[in-house]
Amino acid sequence: AVAQEPFWADLQPRVALVERGGSLWLNCSTNCPRPERGGLETSLRRNGTQRGLRWLARQLVDIREPESQPVCFFRCARRTLQARGLIRTFQRPDRVELVPLPAWQPVGENFTLSCRVPGAGPRGSLTLSLLRGTQELIRRGFSGEPPRARGAVLTATVLARREDHGANFSCRAELDLRPHGLGLFANSSAPRELRTFALPLDPPHLTAPRLLEVGAERPVSCSLDGLFPASEAEVYLALGDQRLSPDVTLQGDALRATATATAGHEHEGTRQLVCNVTLGGESRETWENVTVYSFPAPRLALSDPNAPEGHLVTVTCTGGAQARVTLEGIPAAVPGQPVQLQINVTEDDDKRDFFCDAALEVDGETLSKNESAELRVLYAPRLDDSGCPRSWTWPEGPEQTLRCEARGNPAPSVHCARPDGAARPERQRVSRQDAGTYQCVATNAHGTDSRTVTVGVE
Ligand SMILES: *[C@@H]1O[C@H](CO)[C@@H](O)[C@H](O)[C@H]1NC(C)=O
Ligand SMILES: *[C@@H]1O[C@H](CO)[C@@H](O)[C@H](O)[C@H]1NC(C)=O
Ligand SMILES: *[C@@H]1O[C@H](CO)[C@@H](O)[C@H](O)[C@H]1NC(C)=O
Ligand SMILES: *[C@@H]1O[C@H](CO)[C@@H](O)[C@H](O)[C@H]1NC(C)=O
Ligand SMILES: *[C@@H]1O[C@H](CO)[C@@H](O)[C@H](O)[C@H]1NC(C)=O
Ligand SMILES: *[C@@H]1O[C@H](CO)[C@@H](O)[C@H](O)[C@H]1NC(C)=O
Ligand SMILES: *[C@@H]1O[C@H](CO)[C@@H](O)[C@H](O)[C@H]1NC(C)=O
Ligand SMILES: *[C@@H]1O[C@H](CO)[C@@H](O)[C@H](O)[C@H]1NC(C)=O
Repeated sequence: AVAQEPFWADLQPRVALVERGGSLWLNCSTNCPRPERGGLETSLRRNGTQRGLRWLARQLVDIREPESQPVCFFRCARRTLQARGLIRTFQRPDRVELVPLPAWQPVGENFTLSCRVPGAGPRGSLTLSLLRGTQELIRRGFSGEPPRARGAVLTATVLARREDHGANFSCRAELDLRPHGLGLFANSSAPRELRTFALPLDPPHLTAPRLLEVGAERPVSCSLDGLFPASEAEVYLALGDQRLSPDVTLQGDALRATATATAGHEHEGTRQLVCNVTLGGESRETWENVTVYSFPAPRLALSDPNAPEGHLVTVTCTGGAQARVTLEGIPAAVPGQPVQLQINVTEDDDKRDFFCDAALEVDGETLSKNESAELRVLYAPRLDDSGCPRSWTWPEGPEQTLRCEARGNPAPSVHCARPDGAARPERQRVSRQDAGTYQCVATNAHGTDSRTVTVGVE
């Protein structure tokens, strides 16, 4: 048309690419010698205008539409001369959003990475990539999309691995306007850290006593293998409503929690020992029944632990309310009842041990405790052939001592002397004058015994 027509209208620039929200001066001109009327038709907002004889320049501001076509016209000798321009906008990737990752992602399961770049465009010039750290996982361009298209989304399915624990995922967007004489505009999302975990399906293994005596301290432990990251696992260990504070040790993927269990009288009966391991928002639990019982040791009492010979001594064995006691082989008629023995004590009962045994049935198991006590019998001295032979024969010369031993409680003192009262010194050499009879006397608080012994010298 321009070639055929001598007069034309022109618009400069004909084609423009401006940043969204930006402004642009358009110069609409003609070669018509005396144009009657001219103007610029556009839906875009106008700001300033400058005019010349054969031209009109306008500033268009706040250009937001992806694409618009302003028309420059002049009336020239009853004809209308026109020129059409093309203004396109672009928008930098000023919002690059990686959709939040799951709080905890199980190892071996897929999760979705999704990136949104709203508004940026033209889409055809965009390239999105998803990254783990600095490693690019997937990259996609959108060439071929219509020029009006804006914004883009890129989604990928990723298999979670142990190595991904603590890895930062991010999204990068590039708007490449270099073919249009502009630059490369790139931006990245804030990184999102992934936490992966592995928790086996099996419950933890609990080691605990089946029976727990009131007041006793017993170790309990709870262990679970195959945990990742084991250091992030939390253990809850409780006996009934009593929370235990375990010591947790980690070895590779294995966790072991140990604690000391104790119970008071108020806990008697069946209690549940619970172990719960939580990781990645999931937990595994094990219960075990623990029977808490109380079993006081039997009490063995002697009415007189130091009884004179010929006196009656009562031996009593008492157990707990449910325990059956047996004293010297004699069982109580019913559990809870004491057993009693009465004896007229003799010398032979001195240092006698009495033994009492208590048996308690707890949850199908028979437990036993025992107690013993020693009786002392007080009795007068006894001199006999074993401790004090009636006749002694010594060879003349070597040293000898005349000494007799007496039974008795308390231990008697024994003293041997000639009828005239002369005692023979200890460890004295034997002479013929030592031959003859001696009187040995044993004494303690309960009486005396005496014996005549004869010494012969060869
Ligand atoms: C507009 O274009 C005409 C013709 O090319 C020129 O003479 C004039 O100076 C231009 N106006 C502005 C403001 O650039
Ligand atoms: C609009 O024109 C005024 C006056 O010429 C100028 O000060 C202002 O900067 C212009 N606005 C824009 C967005 O360019
Ligand atoms: C890059 O993206 C971030 C987050 O979406 C945004 O805060 C920032 O302004 C962007 N930077 C540029 C240069 O567009
Ligand atoms: C994870 O996704 C890939 C590809 O989408 C699929 O082939 C694979 O079976 C999925 N794995 C699991 C465990 O879901
Ligand atoms: C991930 O990012 C966080 C915070 O931005 C940083 O502390 C951590 O070291 C990063 N992890 C890796 C593996 O780079
Ligand atoms: C624990 O005891 C309760 C009742 O006292 C019983 O129902 C349950 O089966 C027991 N559990 C185990 C594991 O023995
Ligand atoms: C104990 O036995 C002795 C000898 O059999 C007897 O003499 C004494 O009376 C008895 N003592 C009692 C308290 O029965
Ligand atoms: C008595 O109890 C003790 C510990 O309390 C035990 O070692 C011993 O074997 C028990 N004796 C008998 C005969 O049961």
